[in-house]
Amino acid sequence: MGEKALPRHVAIIMDGNGRWAKKRLLPRAAGHRAGMNRMIGLSEHIFDRGIRYCTLFALSTENLSRPQSELEGLYALFREYFPRNTHTLREKGIVLRVIGDRTLLPADIVKLIAEGESLTAGGTRGVLQLAIGYGGRQDILAAVNAAVRRGREVTMEEFSAMLWTADVPDPDLLIRTGKEVRLSNFLLWQAAYSELYFTDVLFPDFTEKELDRALEAYSRRERRFGKL
Ligand code: IPE
Ligand code: IPE
Ligand code: MG
Repeated sequence: MGEKALPRHVAIIMDGNGRWAKKRLLPRAAGHRAGMNRMIGLSEHIFDRGIRYCTLFALSTENLSRPQSELEGLYALFREYFPRNTHTLREKGIVLRVIGDRTLLPADIVKLIAEGESLTAGGTRGVLQLAIGYGGRQDILAAVNAAVRRGREVTMEEFSAMLWTADVPDPDLLIRTGKEVRLSNFLLWQAAYSELYFTDVLFPDFTEKELDRALEAYSRRERRFGKL
């Protein structure tokens, strides 16, 4: 056995913020803040470990049906953290990409996203994809409609390039924190052959050590892709 296999792309469904807060008798917003801080620490660690691509599921299309007060809290956190952290990403050479349906988001958030993306566009060290207002079925459907507009049948490669995740390789390792064992409409096409890792640890408690545990589990998996 040589060096341990490291995933090229890690995707994380960051779940459990609300339950983390509840356990501490705190408002849900405190859980989201703790989750935001964890997300920032964790993404640094991921790139420091030599992983080139990271996708983080922050807000699903379905989450947009949560009470307005919860959504406003999430958007406020975004406004507070996003500008500062895009500068850090730029310094570190990480390209930021936001995937999802932007028409579902407030206009000022869309503007911050566009600014963050153009600020970091020159990065060469890695790509951080943030899924906001994202749904896997919506991603596929948008690509299907783009293919229809093209007016001819497309290849698998062409179709992949029409998804919001164009140019980013499929995730090798898909982690979900917070106990649930489901995909909740995340990267349905792209995760066709991802190694799945589910943990009970709630996202604000998902430390670098927990991530290393997931990477260790990944290195022991045998990826066959249907072959013998
Ligand atoms: C995940 O945490 C973050 C978002 C979906 C915004 P939750 O808010 O789903 O936390 P739980 O599942 O209620 O604990
Ligand atoms: C999945 O978490 C979406 C994100 C983590 C952004 P949810 O908490 O929305 O998932 P369900 O509703 O339990 O499936
Ligand atoms: Mg949840």
